[in-house]
Amino acid sequence: MSKVTVMDHPLIQHKLTFIRDKETGSKEFRELVEELSLLLAYEVTRNLPLSEVEIETPVCKAKTKQLSGKKMGVIPILRAGLGMVDGILKLIPAAKVGHVGVYRDPETLKPVEYYCKLPSDIQERELIVVDPMLATGGSAIAAIEFLKEKGGKNIKFMCLVAAPEGVDAVQKEHPDVDIFVASVDNELNEHGYIVPGLGDAGDRLFGTK
Ligand code: URA
Repeated sequence: MSKVTVMDHPLIQHKLTFIRDKETGSKEFRELVEELSLLLAYEVTRNLPLSEVEIETPVCKAKTKQLSGKKMGVIPILRAGLGMVDGILKLIPAAKVGHVGVYRDPETLKPVEYYCKLPSDIQERELIVVDPMLATGGSAIAAIEFLKEKGGKNIKFMCLVAAPEGVDAVQKEHPDVDIFVASVDNELNEHGYIVPGLGDAGDRLFGTK
């Protein structure tokens, strides 16, 4: 079974309160989503491998550590996932970004892709799939399934707010994919919104309604 990491760092919980507040406008909402994504990415990358290098400080030669060149890929699920990309790239500027527009066909239950542009070498990359909201899990499951079909092997999923139903569904379908989240909320309501949640993340990011 995959691991679920709930990031209860005070800065994350503080910023989360502001994006939940319905009075927070799009500009501030976008900035906070970016900041939260950066903070979550810090935890997602905790186990990246390091290698030893020798450098010269102004004082002496020293053996120090640097990332051992593991290639990363950030995969936002369209549309709201886009709001998380810049924050992650601030921390991991060398990551390549692939975009996936995907939904799960309610009849066949197969992932249907309507947009896809991925780095050519996703098989060699550690992939972080991002979407601010994990509601039913349908699009996350479909996007991860799709990446696996294309050769993706090493996949993590990162979101800001999740419903317990969505977490369970992703864990069931993809037990190899660890989940990183700022809050697992109470439930989904009859309209598919997370409660208490923050409303429609895409609309709030892009000012649509
Ligand atoms: N997607 C959103 O943007 N918000 C929800 O509450 C659920 C799904």
